[in-house]
Amino acid sequence: MIENFNPNLREKAKEYWSDFLYIYKTLYPNSSENDLLTLIETINASYLERKDSLKEIDSIREKQKNWHLDQKWIATMFYVDLYAGNIKSIEDHLSYLKELGINYVHLMPLLEPREGQADGGYAVKDFRKVNPKLGNNQELMDLIEKMHQEDQIVAIDFVMNHTAKEHKWAQSVLKGEEAYSNFYYTYSEKSIPDQFEKTLPEVFPDFAPGNFTFQPEIDKWVWTTFNEYQWDLNYSQPIVFNAMLSEMLFLANLGVDVLRLDAVPFLWKKMGTNCQNQEEAVMLLVAYKYLIHLVAPGVLFKSEAIVAPNDIIRYLGSGGYEGKACEIGYNATLMNHLWHAIACENTHLLRTTLSNLPPIPATSTWINYIRCHDDIGWGISDQNAADVGQNGHETRLFCSAFYTGNWINSFAQGYSFQIDKTNGESRISGSTAALIGIQKSLIENKTEDIFNAVARFKLLHGILFFMKGIPLVYAGDEIGTLNNFEYLKDEEKRKDNRWLHRPKMDWEKAALRLNAGTIEHTLFNVVSNLSMRRKKLITLHGLSEEKIIILKNDAVFCVGKSYKNQDILLLANFSREIQLIDKQNLPVIWQGETYRENINENDYCFPGEVIVMPPYGIYWLTVTTGSPLGNKTYRLKMDVQTIPGESIYFIENSLTLPTGKKPRQISCYWKEGDGWEVNLEQKQGTWMSYNWVKMYGNQKIAVSKDYFFLPE
Ligand code: GLC
Repeated sequence: MIENFNPNLREKAKEYWSDFLYIYKTLYPNSSENDLLTLIETINASYLERKDSLKEIDSIREKQKNWHLDQKWIATMFYVDLYAGNIKSIEDHLSYLKELGINYVHLMPLLEPREGQADGGYAVKDFRKVNPKLGNNQELMDLIEKMHQEDQIVAIDFVMNHTAKEHKWAQSVLKGEEAYSNFYYTYSEKSIPDQFEKTLPEVFPDFAPGNFTFQPEIDKWVWTTFNEYQWDLNYSQPIVFNAMLSEMLFLANLGVDVLRLDAVPFLWKKMGTNCQNQEEAVMLLVAYKYLIHLVAPGVLFKSEAIVAPNDIIRYLGSGGYEGKACEIGYNATLMNHLWHAIACENTHLLRTTLSNLPPIPATSTWINYIRCHDDIGWGISDQNAADVGQNGHETRLFCSAFYTGNWINSFAQGYSFQIDKTNGESRISGSTAALIGIQKSLIENKTEDIFNAVARFKLLHGILFFMKGIPLVYAGDEIGTLNNFEYLKDEEKRKDNRWLHRPKMDWEKAALRLNAGTIEHTLFNVVSNLSMRRKKLITLHGLSEEKIIILKNDAVFCVGKSYKNQDILLLANFSREIQLIDKQNLPVIWQGETYRENINENDYCFPGEVIVMPPYGIYWLTVTTGSPLGNKTYRLKMDVQTIPGESIYFIENSLTLPTGKKPRQISCYWKEGDGWEVNLEQKQGTWMSYNWVKMYGNQKIAVSKDYFFLPE
């Protein structure tokens, strides 16, 4: 067989062919030699079509195998029309993306969709043609070239599970053409779909119930997992595998760097199962990966598998296909567990779930995100919930209630998406700003709530930018885009409330990022600062060793990372209360006194037994040898009311003091207009805690709660 490859490909083919054949033959025991020859022809033709400039990139990437693991990559995703109008106009926004530090752009579905409803472009009519409303193939290639010159990379969707009903293959089926009869799953007898349905869940029960659609033209039932106009491809047929390889290579040859493989859990069906996450679905990706190595080795696969934690990681090659499946995958587990943790101000489940997961192969990585264009599903497994003493179902119900604002203390303003009538569980739609409390606090105009909401935004993004993976900022989040109800006016979108968080990019709002004091300015700077800091920290490289550390404090999430003999520690306080971290619960290397906090580039000193964390505080700490900062005198105001005859004392307390050190006690003075104050000498960056004590003569009247002070 090898001799049928283009001579330039033969060496490489030798490397991959037998492994590929093993999988191909397992998937397609009845495939013929002809099937394989067609495949090789496709590979040869695609190789010849691939531009030299792309081949150059391929060879650079082959030499730097782990190029995608560099901590420099920061991602975003957007719909071309909603963000820029069309492909050409994206160029106008490249400098904006640079300002944010973004260099990995996922251009959402941009191939020709069907007319009318098209599931946001995920119903593709022609895989080889850019949607004429957005531009053309040449414009896309030009944009990618331009972006490559700026060291930016591009991902596009490869909607591989289904085509639109209007795709020429589906149309051929409707015309009864024999050659296409096996491209999709079609059944004359309803009994077979009925049998499948017994174990199939529904993806869109509200607006697309069931998994099959009757087609009167052919008097058959067609498999349609998603909407009735999205026909599932029949990957049990080698002809479909071959045809889709050809489409995939065509897209790779446009110059894209990453193919986002849509809805991969659904690729293989098996009677009696839920037809998700079958072993064969993973094998399909591995088979394609072998072949893409031959033609476009610089192109990465990103899996879109929003399923249970242990299933998600299989698409990254865990459990048998290390380094052989997708290089990147959506980290839905981190995403939904972060939302859970911030709602209940408790990280026990987050920490437990992440710790329970087998590691992903070192060469694979995540896309870490908190929002994307889709709904949020509560992928919290019953087992993980049980491990922290919770009931999975109740925990998922809590999440939905909290994020629709139906829970005491909820800051969220989201909406239910697709309620499961059998158990009442539902997914959630809504923008980041709406879910994290920015929207509510702005509407209610409560300064302290806005402050907390921004702190939560910073906290969650600070985690995304720290953990193994490529952080992704959903376009518009950086300026606090709110829920948008325009979609209700559009007949084609009205029933799908995911459009709440898919509005047109508001460039006027984006311009406010330049005005200090605006929410846009604040959020934009949170993101651009995190990008800048991350890029400088080698310890955040994808190959860095990552370890979740268990503190005796469930409010705080703690992760240590080490790479090339350097270490960094994440501490993230998910609660609205100050938290004290007992240093003894940290690994020895972290039990120092002086630290650098790398998000804000502050030097901190915690001379006592504890590290102090402000409400929703986040630190990326490295240990330093002594603080470079000196003493200063500070004026501290005491927050207390008195009546004549009463006096106030400042009492340093032992919380932040090293054992044995005597706390200071100082009498405060009254300053007209300002109240009680004390002058205090303190080392900059050194946390201190204190109380005030109210005296009447020699009598102690009241003692305050613990206050904390960080001298800047
Ligand atoms: C993916 C997309 C989603 C779409 C579905 C069907 O999950 O992200 O938006 O509805 O696939 O194509």
